[in-house]
Amino acid sequence: MTKEITITLNGEKQSLEVEPRLLLVHLIRENLNQTGTHIGCDTSSCGACTILVDGKSIKSCTMLAIQADGKEIITVEGLATTEGLHPIQEGFKENHGLHCGFCTPGMMMRAVELLENNPNPTEEEIRWGISGNLCRCTGYNNIVKAIQYAGAKIRGDELPSTEPEFV
Ligand code: FES
Ligand code: FES
Repeated sequence: MTKEITITLNGEKQSLEVEPRLLLVHLIRENLNQTGTHIGCDTSSCGACTILVDGKSIKSCTMLAIQADGKEIITVEGLATTEGLHPIQEGFKENHGLHCGFCTPGMMMRAVELLENNPNPTEEEIRWGISGNLCRCTGYNNIVKAIQYAGAKIRGDELPSTEPEFV
């Protein structure tokens, strides 16, 4: 048995037949071939599958595809525009915010909502804000800097230095 749903994915409206048991992350990756959204655990622990659903960051392994009916979904593939990279993508690039990159799409989608709600977060607010997203490579410092950089870019403030720190 399948059910028809309609979603808007990265600006494109589409109708799909889905099985009621299908997880949203599998719909995105396997049915729609948007593989930038990763699966790290399938048990809502790692945040690698984080996307935006109606502007809220959601772990897409915790949601059924049929629950997304009528909703607007943005994945990492939807961040850049013809104008260039999204500020959060630029932040990660300029601040070396990734090593293997597995956590990065989910981290960036989480950060987009964080900055939407609070464009000038403190370091502590950023660390709390991304505490549901795990990174096993970077030690988080450069991820925090990437988010601070994106916040400054969004606010139109002077951009923080991206020189590496040697301790
Ligand atoms: S794959 Fe969804 S939280 Fe880990
Ligand atoms: S960059 Fe490898 S897990 Fe985060």
